[in-house]
Amino acid sequence: MSTTVLTLVGSLRTGSVNRQLAETAAAAAGDVAEIVIFDRIGQIPFYNEDIDVEGSVPEAAAALRSAAAAADAVLLVCPEYNGTMPAVLKNAIDWLSRPFGVSAISGTPAAVIGSAFGQYGGVWAHDDARKSLGVAGARVVEDVRLSIGGSVTRFAEIHPKDDAEVVEQLRGVISTLTAEAAPSAA
Ligand SMILES: Cc1cc2nc3c(=O)[nH]c(=O)nc-3n(C[C@H](O)[C@H](O)[C@H](O)COP(=O)(O)O)c2cc1C
Repeated sequence: MSTTVLTLVGSLRTGSVNRQLAETAAAAAGDVAEIVIFDRIGQIPFYNEDIDVEGSVPEAAAALRSAAAAADAVLLVCPEYNGTMPAVLKNAIDWLSRPFGVSAISGTPAAVIGSAFGQYGGVWAHDDARKSLGVAGARVVEDVRLSIGGSVTRFAEIHPKDDAEVVEQLRGVISTLTAEAAPSAA
């Protein structure tokens, strides 16, 4: 039995360092966890209570909720945009937060990591994402901390999967997060 970790990447660009980190985490997880990267985050409309009603929920938002319901844990891999998390991730959290108290992430262990260009690696974004996930009802795993600075320079010539330090750090992230999650029945 392995733990399923729904992974949301907060950058939509093709060459995203954070996407590469998520893919590296998936490879580094081995048999410990199945990292499921949700590929449709950019297709989810902005949250709107008018459409969050039976029969009107956008298909991509419904797919996100289903993926969360099937997961044992959630991992956000997040750059920093203007001192906080990118809108695409906040929007995903908003969709995942409802119905409040009984949502697909209610009580689910959740962690935030990522890389940004600044020397602090996006800690403001990561702190904000942890705060938002907690308000949304997830069980934030505060022990997981990984904010890698200099994203576009550090990984200009090297993919994170070839950076032994990063691979080891991601293994630690997955190990700590999965320890907090009940294994799936699969
Ligand atoms: C709109 C925008 C705002 C940004 N704001 C910040 C910021 O506040 N702090 C920071 O460290 N980097 C900032 N950056 C740089 C990104 O963190 C950096 O480009 C990062 O690699 C983007 O993630 P990605 O490689 O996964 O696309 C910003 C980039 C963009 C496009």
